Amino acid sequence: MTNQRVVSGMRPTGKLHLGHLAGALWNWVPLQDQYDCFYFVADWHALTSEYADTSRITGHALENVADWIGAGLDPERSTFFVQSMVPEHAELFLLLQMVTPVAWLERVPTYKEQQDALKDKDLSTIGFLGYPLLQTADVTMYGAHFVPVGDDQVAHLELAREAVRRFNNLFGDVLVEPQPLLSKFSRLPGIEGDKKMSKSVGNTIHLSDDATTVQHKVRQMYTDPKRVRADIPGTVEGNPVFTYHDAFNPDCGEVEDLKTRYRAGKVGDVEVKTKLAAAINAVLDPVRERRAAALARPGYLKDVIVEGSRRARGIANETMERVRAAVRLKY
Ligand code: TRP
Repeated sequence: MTNQRVVSGMRPTGKLHLGHLAGALWNWVPLQDQYDCFYFVADWHALTSEYADTSRITGHALENVADWIGAGLDPERSTFFVQSMVPEHAELFLLLQMVTPVAWLERVPTYKEQQDALKDKDLSTIGFLGYPLLQTADVTMYGAHFVPVGDDQVAHLELAREAVRRFNNLFGDVLVEPQPLLSKFSRLPGIEGDKKMSKSVGNTIHLSDDATTVQHKVRQMYTDPKRVRADIPGTVEGNPVFTYHDAFNPDCGEVEDLKTRYRAGKVGDVEVKTKLAAAINAVLDPVRERRAAALARPGYLKDVIVEGSRRARGIANETMERVRAAVRLKY
């Protein structure tokens, strides 16, 4: 293990699903063996789009942490914390705002994309514009060298590096430029065949779904619509059922055999989907078990985030001491 730091966060906007497992958590878990890892609940980031109804954020936060433990993250080896419990993030964000041109933030592609995608929300706020810069504060606070993310976050880290360079040019070498660590499966499609699985629509298999629910959802999954009978050759590429087989079925021989027969019109959807549901349930069984054990211990998850946030805050205070000195605001 090196003493290099890894930092990543998730917005507590809903239940976690298979997209989070393949796109984030499977990336986060093995990093625990190599780095000093900090994983956090980005509740202020959730507020940037959910400010009109904040009632479910803390509930989602604790459930998400249970899912992390389910997926194999270990609060004894990694530091789990909550962004708003380390208010120094807001101070560093404010100082970064002083040196970051508005145009840099307006240029980040997700800014306009999200405004178009979430038309029912007013995302013309300063908070939403500042999203990637708050993220910059999140990672530079801990001197993160690496930030495991999906490819949708690469532009945010580019902005982060630009902002850090400008800050360091003005105030000296105080902040570390973060690099993304891309996950292998960054964009799992939704089960209805949408481009990306998303927490906001009923288009997902949750880590908390029981085996029967998984079977039911897999049976409903979108597949090749041209294939109205089992003897019609089907398309594997871009077919979500096979994308999920690739991601979750460890039996590559079985997956190859299904693909060959699917292309040849020699397998029914029922067989392909039954095998997929079995594979997903085999992946989720240990996740469910660890998740349930964490939830069953009264007060445990709360203790984990309180203790982790206390630890994170110690480091945040050291960073802010250096930053305040660099900015020459130490009295
Ligand atoms: N923007 C990230 C996402 O939507 C969440 C996030 C907030 C984050 N702060 C971060 C990720 C810092 C990595 C590092 O997935």
